[in-house]
Amino acid sequence: MLRSHTCGELRISNAGQTVTLSGWVQGVRDKGSLLWIDLRDRYGITQITIETDKASKELVDLARTLGREFVISVTGNVAERYSKSDKLATGDVEINPEKIVVINAAITPPFTIEDETDGGDDIRMKYRYLDLRRNPVRKNLELRHRMAIETRNFLDKLNFLEVETPVLIKSTPEGARDFVVPSRMNQGEFYALPQSPQTFKQLLMVGGFDRYYQIVKCFRDEDLRADRQPEFTQIDCEMAFVEQEDILNTFEGMIRHLFKSVKGIDLPAGQAGIPNKFSRMTYADAMKFYGNDKPDIRFEMKFVELKSPLEGGVRRTGDVDLVSGKDFKVFDDAALVVGICAKGAAEYTRKQMDELTEFIKRPQIGATGLIYARYNLDGTIKSSVDKFYNEGELKKWVVAFDAKPGDLMMLIAGEENKARRALSELRLEMGTRLGLRDKNIFACHWIIDFPLLEFSEEVDSTSIGEKGGRWHAKHHPFTSPKLEDVSLLDTDPGSVRANAYDLVINGVEIGGGSIRIHDKNLQAKMFGLLGFSKEDAQAQFGFLMNAFEFGAPPHGGLAFGFDRLCSLFGGADGIRDFIAFPKNNSGRDVMIDSPSTIAQAQLDELMIALKK
Ligand code: AMO
Repeated sequence: MLRSHTCGELRISNAGQTVTLSGWVQGVRDKGSLLWIDLRDRYGITQITIETDKASKELVDLARTLGREFVISVTGNVAERYSKSDKLATGDVEINPEKIVVINAAITPPFTIEDETDGGDDIRMKYRYLDLRRNPVRKNLELRHRMAIETRNFLDKLNFLEVETPVLIKSTPEGARDFVVPSRMNQGEFYALPQSPQTFKQLLMVGGFDRYYQIVKCFRDEDLRADRQPEFTQIDCEMAFVEQEDILNTFEGMIRHLFKSVKGIDLPAGQAGIPNKFSRMTYADAMKFYGNDKPDIRFEMKFVELKSPLEGGVRRTGDVDLVSGKDFKVFDDAALVVGICAKGAAEYTRKQMDELTEFIKRPQIGATGLIYARYNLDGTIKSSVDKFYNEGELKKWVVAFDAKPGDLMMLIAGEENKARRALSELRLEMGTRLGLRDKNIFACHWIIDFPLLEFSEEVDSTSIGEKGGRWHAKHHPFTSPKLEDVSLLDTDPGSVRANAYDLVINGVEIGGGSIRIHDKNLQAKMFGLLGFSKEDAQAQFGFLMNAFEFGAPPHGGLAFGFDRLCSLFGGADGIRDFIAFPKNNSGRDVMIDSPSTIAQAQLDELMIALKK
């Protein structure tokens, strides 16, 4: 070994020992008669102190040639420091070196290797191996390691088997595009990289494996965001002979175990009526009260409708309309007028209101405007539409919102889905502004009863259905409808609910899954609804439907986004720094410069002709 101890290990109890440390030079301070070197490795920093008039000239000269990030080895005595540092775990001691060996010199790094670096994202990605030397990035990967170990511990105890599934497969429809790999031995044919191991884990259930998991890479060619990478990792799980309730309970247990073992947090019990459980919300309620299927419920601020949308031209029981017929065209024309009540925000300035209006008018959000009413502390109500609504009318709003003096009511009007989506963004923004999204609070809940299908007008390259759109599986085509809704498949497919669920923590979709179809005929019917011809369904998924004919157990499962879970535990907003070598927002690895072109000979061998 080129070291006897690590740079984070020595304490006062080691004083007097001769040790050898190896690592990187974090910095050198030369005060003439004293010269200090901070030596760093994965475990910490140890100070090397040289009294230049006592040490050999050779050693001093060598020390003066050292630069940042040189790799050196130091042998010397551990001594108690005169001025101790409580910032370092090794801050009570220093090494008085007898020998320093330069193992490898280093050129000046393009950014400082400190907790707070001066390097921007691009440069850090290009020199990721230097970025990995920084504490915050290293800590994230240590956290990731711990999470993986604890996941395995938990699942192993419950008899789950970790099974590897292939990476060169054929398309699994998870809603994104596939990355494809040409086959040299089967010219003109392509493998697809798995968007998830979905069909394989189902086949493992048919194979009698009963409880499967895998911490596994998945690949999706989709637009990237802070919480999306083209290759990412799932904790992918499946169980046989279970119902939805069993899956929710098992994996709620896993999440509780991770919080306890990794962060020392005992998650609170759920809502009244289901003690010791995460709370649950139907998809329909999530959309109605939060405009979003992954609501952040660290804070309340539920949507309140002042004008409910008609369903098929009909007003349902409980629907309201407190705003039409007052000559305010925006509200009269809107299908939905919906708002939130921001506690204590009545005193927001005009400038703040303008900022918020600009915020929701950004093209990504697309609302046409923001209407608001301040319920002032003196009891008066001032709205941005005073011309149309007198105090008496506004009082009705106060009742609807259950507003208190000091609150700000904020409203968006328009087409139903658009207005809800925009208000959902505004709600999150207000939650942030009002300090209601504390990163140390974790609100976990299940969203259940997702619709089985959603209609999309879009015609995509993989769409097999009629032109002008088709039904898409909301989760994936293997998801089982609720048995009580099966008869609606023929009459009203859009209203069929699925046995599908998502786990949402702090507004992030951390995982999702479903009970699967295990009956060949129902699976074939599902493919039919999704626009597959019998032949196409057989060609693409015959292997699964055939397997169902050989005795398939009822089964279901889910997958967690492992990178997202790590980032949530690490208190970060994005997943990139929890992945050792991530891609940038254009899907590029700028360190190895990939993707890249390949040689003509390789293309020829694969029979691929590039369009000029
Ligand atoms: P789903 O598509 O919902 O389900 O994916 C499961 C979880 O994976 C995470 N995730 C991602 N994380 C980072 N980057 C991405 N591009 C990305 N895409 C998804 C999310 C998501 O909740 N086979 C099903 C699971 C099942 O039914 O068992 C599936 O893959 O956190």
